[in-house]
Amino acid sequence: MLTSIKTNNFDGCKSKELGMMYFRVAIVLFGAQLIMGLIAAIQFVVPGFLFEILDFSVARMVHINALVIWMLYAMIGSVYYLMPDETGIETVGIGIGKLAFWVLTLAVSIVVLVYIFVQVGAGTEFSIWFIHEGREYLEAPRWADIGITIVVLTFYANVFLTFMKGKRTGIMMVLVADLMALSGLYLAGMFFTDNISMDQFWWWWVIHLWVEATWEVFVGALAAYALIKILGAKREIVEMWLWIEVLMLFGSGILGLGHHYFWIGTPEYWWEIGALFSALEPVPLVAMFVHVFYDWGKENGIAIAKGEKPTEMKNSPAITWILLNAFGNFLGAGVWGFFHTLPQVNIYTHGTQFTAAHGHLAFFGAYATILIAMMYIGLQGAHGIEKLKSTFSSKMAAILISFGVMGMTIALTTAGYEQILVERAELGATWNAYFTAQNLPWYIQAQAWRAVMGVITLIGFVFLVWDMLNIDKRKTQKI
Ligand code: HEM
Ligand code: HEM
Ligand SMILES: [Fe+2]
Repeated sequence: MLTSIKTNNFDGCKSKELGMMYFRVAIVLFGAQLIMGLIAAIQFVVPGFLFEILDFSVARMVHINALVIWMLYAMIGSVYYLMPDETGIETVGIGIGKLAFWVLTLAVSIVVLVYIFVQVGAGTEFSIWFIHEGREYLEAPRWADIGITIVVLTFYANVFLTFMKGKRTGIMMVLVADLMALSGLYLAGMFFTDNISMDQFWWWWVIHLWVEATWEVFVGALAAYALIKILGAKREIVEMWLWIEVLMLFGSGILGLGHHYFWIGTPEYWWEIGALFSALEPVPLVAMFVHVFYDWGKENGIAIAKGEKPTEMKNSPAITWILLNAFGNFLGAGVWGFFHTLPQVNIYTHGTQFTAAHGHLAFFGAYATILIAMMYIGLQGAHGIEKLKSTFSSKMAAILISFGVMGMTIALTTAGYEQILVERAELGATWNAYFTAQNLPWYIQAQAWRAVMGVITLIGFVFLVWDMLNIDKRKTQKI
């Protein structure tokens, strides 16, 4: 991957090169995310680990912020990568796009170093501007917030202007509309209020309306592009699905926001709104699942059933990750999300390890998977490989990472279940009950298992990077 810039086969297409630059930073940040997660997981088992050097609060903060940032990088990379294919032209402002990339990367590096070395500051305006904002997932200090906004504006201008100038496919149309909403929502997490309920109210606009509306639509568009590119799926079919998904995702996801307003001091009518609309959210996720398998079946299964030659699959590692995406999105967001989305259930599960179980499987299943698939598509292009086959390491990566994340999810679900029964239902959710539940064997063992599964995930990641770095050696597949 690191060498791909030299060996790129994009016929001088600068937009794809820029996409690859974003992918490279994304994978590095992904690695950083996993290491920080592992440190935090060890701290659950050995509380004194790195005490006062890198406390749990800091490791956790870097873990989840790196998560959000690497995904945004990979998303921007994917758009720069697919845009020339979809619009049929080179991206209009490549120079400014590259400049924005460097500015963003410099800003992210400074922010991460401050998180790790400065860690916390006094509860003053200075800390908000220069250390971090203290808002889960979106901790970037104010100066970086403003920088990110400017960089994203240049990115959006590039997407919009290229779209206007080039061919206007359905996929591009969805992306242009979706990215406007996605970028705009970031602003909701940028202003600070002294009232914690109000602060949380707006903060959820970013987090929930990202992951359950705009990001989902975004990955729908990526899946559509990837299925056309890898399986040669019919554009009319994938785009039809895409429009249905857009309608359903926005239809349920926007008011589904209410499931975060149950207990933060907002009016009680949110119980009904949140219950109804969030309960509908799994429906589009089923549609996305069916969509991938329908196209897959149409292009392959039906042909095989008829005794014809199946369509040639042009990128097996990418297709593996797309299938993992279909399952993962449905399970992590749809099933694990639905479990705790009704207020009658959420009153017991709120903020337990069950939430963390859902958070892991959903972020991984819905986003990490498809973004890895996009990286493989990028690498295939960069090396000019007609047919990219799976290798031992690409398979090990997919197996170990999925197994590890699923294992962590099961461990955390077990820990959460114990908290729900003992701490909440039986002991009445008191302060003492919280600690009693955390000291029972099921909880402790579950946390140990999570750490073990985290190590497996990390080993899988090493295989992934190894595979990506060695794609060059597969030149034999070049036609
Ligand atoms: C890919 C999509 C999704 C992602 C990435 C995601 C991720 C997350 C994360 C990280 C949290 C924890 C937030 C925190 O730190 O407080 C959370 C909370 C929650 N999610 Fe999701 N989620 C997704 C989709 C869904 C869906 C479709 C549903 C419902 C059907 C759902 C239901 C919930 C609920 C009820 C909570 C609150 C849990 C609590 O009260 O502690 N999520 N989600
Ligand atoms: C080496 C593997 C990993 C380990 C050991 C790990 C560990 C952890 C730990 C200890 C926390 C803090 C939980 C808490 O506050 O109770 C956490 C939070 C989180 N991690 Fe991971 N993690 C790993 C990989 C991942 C991956 C691959 C993703 C998603 C793609 C992810 C997404 C999250 C999210 C969204 C949260 C916040 C959850 C919440 O607040 O409910 N992690 N992780
Ligand atoms: Fe939500």
